[in-house]
Amino acid sequence: MQVIEKIKDVSNFIKELKAQKKTVGFVPTMGFLHEGHLSLMRYAKKVTDVVVVSIFVNPTQFGPKEDFNAYPRDMEGDKGKCLEAGVDILFIPSASEIYPEGYLTYVNVEKIADVMCGASRAGHFKGVATIVAKLFNIVKPDKAFFGQKDYQQAVVIKRMAADLNMDVDIEALPTVREPDGLAISSRNSYLSGAERAAAACLYMSLKLAEDRIGKGEKNSAKIIEAMQHIIQAEKLVKIDYIAIADTETLEEVKTIDRKVVIALAVWIGKTRLIDNVIVNPSP
Ligand code: PAF
Repeated sequence: MQVIEKIKDVSNFIKELKAQKKTVGFVPTMGFLHEGHLSLMRYAKKVTDVVVVSIFVNPTQFGPKEDFNAYPRDMEGDKGKCLEAGVDILFIPSASEIYPEGYLTYVNVEKIADVMCGASRAGHFKGVATIVAKLFNIVKPDKAFFGQKDYQQAVVIKRMAADLNMDVDIEALPTVREPDGLAISSRNSYLSGAERAAAACLYMSLKLAEDRIGKGEKNSAKIIEAMQHIIQAEKLVKIDYIAIADTETLEEVKTIDRKVVIALAVWIGKTRLIDNVIVNPSP
């Protein structure tokens, strides 16, 4: 595995691989790698010749009061995991390499970046779209892989790639879960024992929604109310939002007459967690 810090070095290396007609698969991450990331790397290994992983805790996607400084980091552990997953190139740029002095350019995806998580995290998706666009320009992947846990992020990135004619296939792969259903996330490491136990209510509420829709319920408001009951039973958990939305436009769906994403964000103490499921109503 090549561990590369400089943009120029990674670009040159990838140029050589492309000249050899190798296909490049890319998994951008912020590190503190877990089974969710590893599942993306293993999949990338299956479908592309060369796997590139980036680790960069991107400051522009964190708000001023968010957890940029506290975000968990474990570069040595991450290197070992990448090696084990068969990663070919690990790109670990510094902040000044990515955002040198005088940096002024940002990518802004409208509308779909302003709802759901975008409504509570102003500027978050601008930071995400910007770093992903920059990484795509540096790595020039044929395919890039993201987790469905960050569903809105995947939708925003797909929109950006299509709108800006970026020549990359983007795939969102299934959320990896703990045995009790909690979506695996680097931020789960912030939770105390009691908070971790309470966090199981997120997936319980999503499963309940899925079950109700399966039984023919089409009224989003009723489903959201039932989900609220489950989550509010946990005193440690505060709902940020629950949304039932069109899977592409992310517009609210009041009557479930098509495939929808049911997405939520909650606060558990100082930790913000998100999760979602995609549900297809029975005809
Ligand atoms: O999902 C993440 O870890 C980040 O948002 C990403 C896509 C690596 C951009 O910083």
